[in-house]
Amino acid sequence: MEKNRFLHIEHEVKSLSPSYESWRDLVQGKEIVLDMGCGHGDFLIEKTEQYPECFFVGIEISRKRTAKTSHRLFKRGRQNYAVIHGDGEWVLKTFFPSKSVSEIHINFPDPWLRKRHWKNRLLRPSFVLQVIRVLKVGGRVFFVSDVEEYARYAVEVFRQFQWLHSVYPQGVVQNLYERFPTLFYQKMSPLRPINYVCFEKREQSPLEKV
Ligand SMILES: C[S@@+](CC[C@H](N)C(=O)[O-])C[C@H]1O[C@@H](n2cnc3c(N)ncnc32)[C@H](O)[C@@H]1O
Repeated sequence: MEKNRFLHIEHEVKSLSPSYESWRDLVQGKEIVLDMGCGHGDFLIEKTEQYPECFFVGIEISRKRTAKTSHRLFKRGRQNYAVIHGDGEWVLKTFFPSKSVSEIHINFPDPWLRKRHWKNRLLRPSFVLQVIRVLKVGGRVFFVSDVEEYARYAVEVFRQFQWLHSVYPQGVVQNLYERFPTLFYQKMSPLRPINYVCFEKREQSPLEKV
């Protein structure tokens, strides 16, 4: 991490005063879509091309992967993206105004299988509070994992918050798509079922005043 600290990354957002104005300048009226833990950027490569009307932000704790994602997008001439290097919860808290984001995608987050390591999981109640705050009403959070237990845990955590409603009545849906554009999908889908979770923010919450 230390040796990559000063690595130049195209389209990197390092600081931004958390106001609607600064985001408005950057995204030019487009809907904001986040990819949490974007890895090497495969999801963003596909979606930035498929949805030019949206502005995508890749968020990644590894600086090397942040650089790789950005470089792959830059090489392809994409303009509708930015990357932010840092922990997902910290990034939401620091960079995003309330009600500014349309979709948050969490694709194959590290599962930390042992119960005593669950505290390291990205998906925890304090993270979900930030998700609720930054989402617009009608915005959605998508969670995809090859670990069924983690997907069920995600449903349990999301359901603790009255502002979020599961889009799928059963909570978790398996093998929803025949293909999914991430590296971990390619690695894991031949081995086990893939679990999809999606929650929608249906009403304003008091967190938005924070
Ligand atoms: C299993 S990989 C999945 C990568 C990609 N989303 C995919 O589906 O191929 C998990 C990614 O999340 C990143 N990550 C782990 N903890 C994170 C955190 N707290 N904030 C942001 N990114 C995180 C890791 O560095 C890694 O790139």
